[in-house]
Amino acid sequence: MISRVSEKTMAKNSSEDHNIVVKPMEIDDIAPAFHLGEKLFTLSAMPNLYRIWDEYEIIDFYHDSSEYCFSAFADGKFVGFLLGTVIEKKTNRKYGYLVWTGVNKEYGGMGVASMLFEKFKEVMVEENVTMIIVDTQADNHNAIEFFKGKGFKNPQDHIYLTLSLRDDNSRKRNN
Ligand SMILES: CC(C)(COP(=O)(O)OP(=O)(O)OC[C@H]1O[C@@H](n2cnc3c(N)ncnc32)[C@H](O)[C@@H]1OP(=O)(O)O)[C@@H](O)C(=O)NCCC(=O)NCCS
Repeated sequence: MISRVSEKTMAKNSSEDHNIVVKPMEIDDIAPAFHLGEKLFTLSAMPNLYRIWDEYEIIDFYHDSSEYCFSAFADGKFVGFLLGTVIEKKTNRKYGYLVWTGVNKEYGGMGVASMLFEKFKEVMVEENVTMIIVDTQADNHNAIEFFKGKGFKNPQDHIYLTLSLRDDNSRKRNN
């Protein structure tokens, strides 16, 4: 049986040890996860995000697939999260989709995202998922290195196009 709580004490990249714990996400984690995501998934930092980070995003994940959502705590403080889901195709093939993961920058490089991912992967194995899918911006090198380190392969290029529906010229004229 796979334990529902992962716990490990790490000192990597830090002068201090932190007791890092990963747990299934709970209702009280929604607000801190939302605010952490607001800091990490900004349009200026990730201008190509085709999914928009907002309160409905995290509430929807918690409502629809809370069993695939995890929170990380360092010494009791909320420091990271992972939101995933499972997509089942007509062929009965199941795909795990890791949609959002983020770690408080102060706790970066300490293995927090790794622990979140390992927990997600354990649950995907339990669910008989065939493959886990992730996506990220092509210039998000930290995330790409992170996912490659976890064994993800075959990165494929996608191009996102945008059509602005805000008429900047007419706004200028009206001002
Ligand atoms: C990507 C992210 C989740 C990594 O979190 P983290 O807790 O710092 O990651 P870990 O400490 O578990 O790192 C594991 C591996 O990821 C890679 N990695 C993590 N941060 C890195 C960085 N800043 N530069 C290069 N590689 C990095 C390394 O390969 C690292 O292995 P190592 O420690 O043996 O070198 C975090 O930087 C983050 O929140 N980024 C902003 C949000 C984001 O881009 N999310 C992913 C798309 S949804």
